[in-house]
Amino acid sequence: MSEYKFAVVGAGSIGVGWSIVFARAGYSVCVFDIKPEILDRFWVQINSKLKLLAENDLLQEDLEAISKRITTTTELSQALTGADYVQECGPEELQIKQNIYKKLEELSSPNAILASSSSALTTTQFASDLPTKHRCLVVHPGNPPYLLAIAEVVPASFTSNHCVEETFKILRSVEMAPILVSHEPKGFVFNRIQGAVLREAYSLVRDGVISPQDLDLIVTEGLGKRWSIVGPFATAALNVQGGIKAHAARMGQSYFEMGQSRGQNEPWSAELIEKVSKDIEIKLNNSDWLINVEKRDLALMKITKLLLEIIKP
Ligand SMILES: NC(=O)c1ccc[n+]([C@@H]2O[C@H](COP(=O)([O-])OP(=O)(O)OC[C@H]3O[C@@H](n4cnc5c(N)ncnc54)[C@H](O)[C@@H]3O)[C@@H](O)[C@H]2O)c1
Repeated sequence: MSEYKFAVVGAGSIGVGWSIVFARAGYSVCVFDIKPEILDRFWVQINSKLKLLAENDLLQEDLEAISKRITTTTELSQALTGADYVQECGPEELQIKQNIYKKLEELSSPNAILASSSSALTTTQFASDLPTKHRCLVVHPGNPPYLLAIAEVVPASFTSNHCVEETFKILRSVEMAPILVSHEPKGFVFNRIQGAVLREAYSLVRDGVISPQDLDLIVTEGLGKRWSIVGPFATAALNVQGGIKAHAARMGQSYFEMGQSRGQNEPWSAELIEKVSKDIEIKLNNSDWLINVEKRDLALMKITKLLLEIIKP
């Protein structure tokens, strides 16, 4: 196993989350924040989250062994010394991220990867002026990253391929699931999907179609439960025998009209359907359609059983 050393810059909720990810994978991580009292709060959070993970059998070793790999400092240069990978977790403000990145550029090892947890600000916005901008990119986690394994890897046009490849390697070594997001779209992908759902949810409540609580129920008892097993494309492929193409033929017009009622004019073109079908059906071969539907149902049964246990009085 390669010996990576990690630095986390900003010890708020996402800094806590990433620190657990890196230390849980066996690596040492040094965490910086601007004030000692913030680091005191950080330790309270680390200890309570590790304890909960241990109580739920989600740690493979003693929590002390994991927390011993974490150190904290108010000296940025100390956190960055020898770090191969820096995860910036400062506030979501352009000026602050620009200032942090200037310091990271100055104080980090020249080959260190400078990854930002940014939710919406892009690498182009905060790192364009840096001499070594080729090693900068966004690695946006879900919250909390030690439970949601995905990380959106969003390079700028100037980020080197080598930096992206190394980032993938490093993230996989800490058991994260890196996802490449191209062209720095506003809100990246995680929040764009979340945003699309929220936009429609607000509109439906505004129009008196449904109450907010019932809207949430549609997700927790319906869409969300299913999406924890299969994504929206795989859902479409498994909902209609014949897969993506059959689903699009049956439902495409109806979804197009729903979009039209919100001022959108974006039908799914034949080429787009073909692209999605090719990619999704590599995993969900149509000839195994019934088997795949059964697998989904079995997973749903297990989740349903677990949820019933959790909510039992
Ligand atoms: N909270 C979420 O759900 C979530 C999810 C994904 C990504 N993010 C992103 O992660 C980043 C951190 O978010 P958070 O929720 O942990 O915020 P937070 O406010 O909890 O923590 C930010 C930390 O940065 C520290 N800080 C302030 N100035 C600093 C500086 N100059 N240098 C270093 N640290 C500094 C603060 O003291 C604080 O501890 C943001 O970019 C945010 O958009 C947040």
